[in-house]
Amino acid sequence: MNATPATAPTTRKKIAVAGATGRLGRHVVDVLEEQGHDVVAISRAQGVDIVTGDGLAEALHGVEVVIDSAGTPSPDQQVATDFFTSAARNLRAAGEKAGVARIAAVSIIGIEASVVGYNAAKPAHEHALLEGALPVRILRAAQFHEFVPQLLAWGTQGDTGCVPRMGTQLVAARSVAEALVGLALEEGSGTATAPFPEIAGPREESLVGAATAYAAVHGPATVQGVSDPADPERDLFENGGLLPGPHATLAGPAFEEWAEGVN
Ligand SMILES: NC(=O)c1ccc[n+]([C@@H]2O[C@H](COP(=O)([O-])OP(=O)(O)OC[C@H]3O[C@@H](n4cnc5c(N)ncnc54)[C@H](OP(=O)(O)O)[C@@H]3O)[C@@H](O)[C@H]2O)c1
Repeated sequence: MNATPATAPTTRKKIAVAGATGRLGRHVVDVLEEQGHDVVAISRAQGVDIVTGDGLAEALHGVEVVIDSAGTPSPDQQVATDFFTSAARNLRAAGEKAGVARIAAVSIIGIEASVVGYNAAKPAHEHALLEGALPVRILRAAQFHEFVPQLLAWGTQGDTGCVPRMGTQLVAARSVAEALVGLALEEGSGTATAPFPEIAGPREESLVGAATAYAAVHGPATVQGVSDPADPERDLFENGGLLPGPHATLAGPAFEEWAEGVN
C-alpha cells in the first residue's frame, strides 16, 4: 500500500518540470511529489529536449501545468539567448497544443538592467514566454546558495578561487522551488504582469564573503574577489542592482546554515 503523502494536495495534478535534474529543478520535483502530484520530469537525460522540441509533445500529454526550471551553463549571451528563447517558444507551443493551463518559470532579480552575458539572456527569456496566448507566471529569484560552489569550481586555478564582487541575497534552491510550485499551482488565469514576484534569502551577503566561508571548509585555500572596470555590469553587481525589492518574499535558511549541511 502506498504511504499517504505528508501534505495531500486538494487536487492531484499532472505537472511537467522542465530542467528536472538541475540545481533548482530537482527540488521542484521533490516539492511536487511531497504534495502528492504526478510529475513528468523533463531534461535531455530523460530523452526530452526543449530546445529542439524532441519528445516534448509526448511528454506534455495530459499535463495541466508546466514549470520551467531549465537552464544552460553557457555564459555566452547569444548561446544563452538562443537557448532560453527557443525553449520558451517550444514550451508555449507544445503547452498550448496539450491544453495546459499555464507555464510558471524562474528568472533572476534585477536582470532587466543587464546588458551582457548570461544575465542579458534572461529578459529575452521573459519576453519570449510572455509573448504568447498561454498564461505565464514568472518568479524572479536571487542567486542560489548552490551557485556559490559552482562559481568557485568555475573560477578556481591552483589554490585560488576567483568570484565576482557582488551584493546578493543568496537563497536556497529548495526555498525557490517551494515558491515556484506555489505560484504555479495558484488558482486563477491570465498572464501575470510586472512587478513579478521575487524570492530571496533572509539577508544581504557579499558573494566573496559567502565563497570565503564555503571555501574555509571545502577549499580552495584562498578566495579572491574580482572586479573588472571595463565590465558594463560592474555597477549592477557591486552596488545592489541584484538585490530584492521591498515586495520580495524572504526565505531561509541563510547561506551559512545551508553550507553547514553540505558534505
Ligand atoms: N543558479 C542560480 O543561482 C539562479 C538564480 C536565479 C535564477 N536561476 C534560473 O533558474 C533556472 C535553473 O537554473 P539551475 O542553476 O538550476 O540550472 P542547472 O543546474 O544548470 O540545470 C539545468 C537543467 O536544465 C536541463 N536542460 C538543459 N538543456 C536542456 C534541453 N535542451 N532540454 C531539456 N532540458 C535541458 C538540464 O538537464 P540536461 O542537461 O539533462 O538536459 C538540467 O536539468 C535557470 O533559468 C536560471 O536562469 C538560477
